[in-house]
Amino acid sequence: MTYQVRPLGPEDKQQAWDLGSLTFGYHQQPMPDDWSATGPGRRQHGVFDPHGRLVAKALDRDQAHWFGGRLVPAAGIAGVATAPDQRGHGHGRRVLTHLLADARDRGAAISTLFDTTPAPYRALGWEEIGALTYFRAATRTLAAVRPDPTTTLRPATEADLPAVHDLYHRIARDSTGMMDRTGPTFDTDPAKQLADHHGYTVATDATGTLTGYATWDRGPGYDATGTLTVDDLTGLTAAATRTLLAMLGTWASVAPTTLLRLGPADPAWSLIARADAHPHTSQPWMLRIIDAPAAIAARGWPAHLTAELDLDLVDDVCAWHHGPHRLTLTAGTARLDPGGTGAIQLTPRGLAAWYAGATTPDQLRRAGFLTGGNPTTDAVLHAATAGPAPTLHDYF
Ligand SMILES: CC(C)(COP(=O)(O)OP(=O)(O)OC[C@H]1O[C@@H](n2cnc3c(N)ncnc32)[C@H](O)[C@@H]1OP(=O)(O)O)[C@@H](O)C(=O)NCCC(=O)NCCS
Repeated sequence: MTYQVRPLGPEDKQQAWDLGSLTFGYHQQPMPDDWSATGPGRRQHGVFDPHGRLVAKALDRDQAHWFGGRLVPAAGIAGVATAPDQRGHGHGRRVLTHLLADARDRGAAISTLFDTTPAPYRALGWEEIGALTYFRAATRTLAAVRPDPTTTLRPATEADLPAVHDLYHRIARDSTGMMDRTGPTFDTDPAKQLADHHGYTVATDATGTLTGYATWDRGPGYDATGTLTVDDLTGLTAAATRTLLAMLGTWASVAPTTLLRLGPADPAWSLIARADAHPHTSQPWMLRIIDAPAAIAARGWPAHLTAELDLDLVDDVCAWHHGPHRLTLTAGTARLDPGGTGAIQLTPRGLAAWYAGATTPDQLRRAGFLTGGNPTTDAVLHAATAGPAPTLHDYF
């Protein structure tokens, strides 16, 4: 049977809604009048059988993630679905392979996604590099944190949002993998941002400068089920983090449980005992390199590392970068050019995990993702992408 793989247009929207809503469990809802399968920064691709039936689809979101202090253009993948009767027939592979080529053409160097199961994505070269985790803590444990007397808390206003954004930008820039919260897939309407949460609290220091913020939602009830859910808790200073945590602690009597979305190395962990906060939900996320030379050129690299490595990229899905390449690291920048001896072989999953600094060369070797090279080249590989543990605070 011959299948057509192509971007979805307005004429496909009913089929896209039907497949997406059935797959992700909202098929009891009618399609909203203003719903669209595509939109600014959102390209949807589909596989059609010869009768015009949509049998698989996937969404490409135009977004960017921070790596090494620079933003890397990305294809955020979502809404991947194959019709139930057609699963296991290669349609997922078909639509995702097409999406990767299209995303490369529009300038995406990497791809990220949240996986419900890693298997189909691993088969195509994505690898899990982190997880978005909400930790559950008894709110009374936060009540033990003492606020800083020189820090003031107050509800955010629209006028605060540019400073809040600057603060997020500063934290995200130093992370591995956090998202750029601008661009076509982010709603930057200030009123909507404030309305999205029951509480949007900013912390300021004695000079009135914004030093932290928290966005939170207060769940129903004031008995044992009362829960506070904190999406962002971001302190630029210890005083701000402490004061925001202490504010959360004051909810102990009516919201005995707090769910906190925190990265693995957030400074808030210096104030919360790990034994008091356990993973509540954890959503793994994956990375794939779409265009290796572009991805290497886009991210930041250690300022004090100058070296050359001969890589051999083994990639039959993104075949445009398959083969030997020389990696040249020069004081904070890097280049990947075709050629060289191909002494170090990396699979697509290995390339992704190395790029993110999610694992060491030794671990890559033991996973079967890296072969060749020697202890010296391993040390260079390790130093090149070492950094904070990959962290994402935005679900898509
Ligand atoms: C996930 C899903 C989209 C895969 O689509 P599909 O059309 O069945 O996938 P394919 O047949 O193209 O398989 C692609 C690859 O993944 C592998 N794969 C697919 N499902 C797998 C599974 N459950 N376990 C192990 N491997 C799997 C296949 O072996 C294949 O690898 P190969 O080409 O190297 O042999 C489909 O199963 C689905 O719609 N599931 C429900 C919705 C869902 O989970 N979406 C993903 C949200 S993150």
